Amino acid sequence: MAGAAKPLDVGAIPYEGINEIIGNYKGDSSAIIPILQDIQDLMGYVPKDGISYVAEKLEVSAAKIYGIVTFYAQFRLQPVGKHMIMLCEGTACHVNGAKLISGAITDELDIRGGETTPDGLFTFEKVACIGCCSLSPVMVISGETYAKLTPEATRKILKEYQAKEAAVQN
Ligand code: FES
Repeated sequence: MAGAAKPLDVGAIPYEGINEIIGNYKGDSSAIIPILQDIQDLMGYVPKDGISYVAEKLEVSAAKIYGIVTFYAQFRLQPVGKHMIMLCEGTACHVNGAKLISGAITDELDIRGGETTPDGLFTFEKVACIGCCSLSPVMVISGETYAKLTPEATRKILKEYQAKEAAVQN
């Protein structure tokens, strides 16, 4: 799972920070993975423009770096939203209707597993058992656990988050 959610200035590449990271590894192209990990720590994800930039700096092909980022599940190519929604898809949750909860999240926020809302507020991830099967189906939003979910309850919870965010912005 990626690190803590950080609201991002999406599209802005912190070239100075990336240069510093590459400098920490003395521009060594064999350190691509730790370099990418540090970039992800810096930005919350590895942006596509960042990949081209790193490729140029390390004198390797962008395709090679892209291959690494897509191969390892730890890397994400999309920014992480302010609120990370983790929906359990373990056996108990699956049996007790996780699919319906997933559908409610997708309906409500217009995102699927692995995606982030365009406003950067929510990222939706489907995860393996999170260890509270007796409370299934379960989701965690920004560290808060919601148990015995129904699609209606899920929609209500998401609407509450949206209302709180709207209040913060006004
Ligand atoms: S299967 Fe979902 S919490 Fe265990």
